[in-house]
Amino acid sequence: MMQGGGGAVVVNSSSSSSKDGHAPARAPAPGRKLVVQPLLLSAVLATGFLLFVLGGGGAGSYRRVPALAVSDVLLAAPCAEEKEKEEDERWWARPPPRSAWHNMSDEELLWAASFEPRRRGPGPGPGRRPSGPGKVAFMFLTRGPLPLAPLWERFFNGTGGRDLFSVYVHTTPGYRLDFPPSSPFHRRQVPSKATRWGETSVVDAERRLLANALLDLSNERFVLLSESCIPLHPFLAVHTYLTRSRHSFVGAFDDLGPHGRGRYRAGLAPHVSVSQWRKGAQWFEMDRRIAVFVVADDRYYPRFQEVCRPPCYVDEHYLPTVLTIEASESIANRSITWVDWSRGGSHPAMFGADDVSEAFMERLAGKKEKERCMYNGQPAEVCSLFARKFAPSGLQPLLELSTRILGY
Ligand SMILES: *[C@@H]1O[C@H](CO)[C@@H](O)[C@H](O)[C@H]1NC(C)=O
Ligand SMILES: *[C@@H]1O[C@H](CO)[C@@H](O)[C@H](O)[C@H]1NC(C)=O
Ligand SMILES: *[C@@H]1O[C@H](CO)[C@@H](O)[C@H](O)[C@H]1NC(C)=O
Repeated sequence: MMQGGGGAVVVNSSSSSSKDGHAPARAPAPGRKLVVQPLLLSAVLATGFLLFVLGGGGAGSYRRVPALAVSDVLLAAPCAEEKEKEEDERWWARPPPRSAWHNMSDEELLWAASFEPRRRGPGPGPGRRPSGPGKVAFMFLTRGPLPLAPLWERFFNGTGGRDLFSVYVHTTPGYRLDFPPSSPFHRRQVPSKATRWGETSVVDAERRLLANALLDLSNERFVLLSESCIPLHPFLAVHTYLTRSRHSFVGAFDDLGPHGRGRYRAGLAPHVSVSQWRKGAQWFEMDRRIAVFVVADDRYYPRFQEVCRPPCYVDEHYLPTVLTIEASESIANRSITWVDWSRGGSHPAMFGADDVSEAFMERLAGKKEKERCMYNGQPAEVCSLFARKFAPSGLQPLLELSTRILGY
């Protein structure tokens, strides 16, 4: 229904998964579609606006835009449209959360989040949400410390306030983050449980983060990050890129080999057939509607929990597969988190102090060779907003280069 990108054929390293470096192969997907009607209007409006903004003085002419260049994204301001009658809308607003902590159980939390409105924007009754630009929720799935926090603080500092983003951190239980009140990480830890690499507890943690973030009605987009991720562009460019996207950035490809379809489990039939089986990197980005679907899913997730055990990695298959079945036109089939699989092995390359050079960072920021991908159905040159994996030793050189090369 929404015009798809017609093939986001970026077969680059960022589409790969985290357990092996298999190149994505593509195949058409059958499957039912989630109802997307309510989004259609906003998608059309958003497209028109984007074309207008990027059309470079085309005065609303809907000619095709050649390519979304880095400079376009960097120049675009956050959407400042509908700023109407903010006073009137305060009545429903929840008190601003002073802390992300709460004492709901997972069941209570997921239950509460599954009733959250699926869209931001004006609507009748108590489901009304804030007008104006929505927030991007940055959800950090970590073991504990956030060694790159000073870089992220600098990135968030470029927003001119806290009304365009929120931060959530899931750590090993018992680990206490200690950030001063001036930091965007201050009191942003959510109640967590132990997670084990490659097991369903990782996806439990992802859903827990999503549910926490959904409770803030002004969160509009949800991005999953790890402690080794860095942003590649200034905050406003990232915010604009995400809030104006018609698609959620969930990687999904059909890998016919042993690390793809070979991990399909017959116990998933009849809900999931082998031809619907998909693979993609764990590091997703999604809109509210998809996020509500994920926390409310009691159709697929319990089956995955039961039968998708290593070497079936639920974090690499659950979202790509289920969203391909339920919402294939709503996902971009690509990730926005760059990662380097070129060194081979079952883990992607880790970059430390010796790797973080000016040339390397310029390459990641797309300043030398352009990336190629689809964005809202148009060819684009900005494809990755984040990159991993960076070691703590990379912090100092990153801080030295970030203002000049990454723009924050
Ligand atoms: C993603 O892939 C599915 C097929 O699995 C396709 O139907 C859909 O159009 C693709 N999305 C985009 C934005 O190209
Ligand atoms: C935790 O739960 C108790 C009752 O079970 C409640 O009184 C208290 O306010 C809750 N604390 C928070 C931070 O929600
Ligand atoms: C944030 O910006 C202000 C003013 O531009 C500056 O004084 C402060 O040091 C910055 N903080 C960080 C963490 O970069």
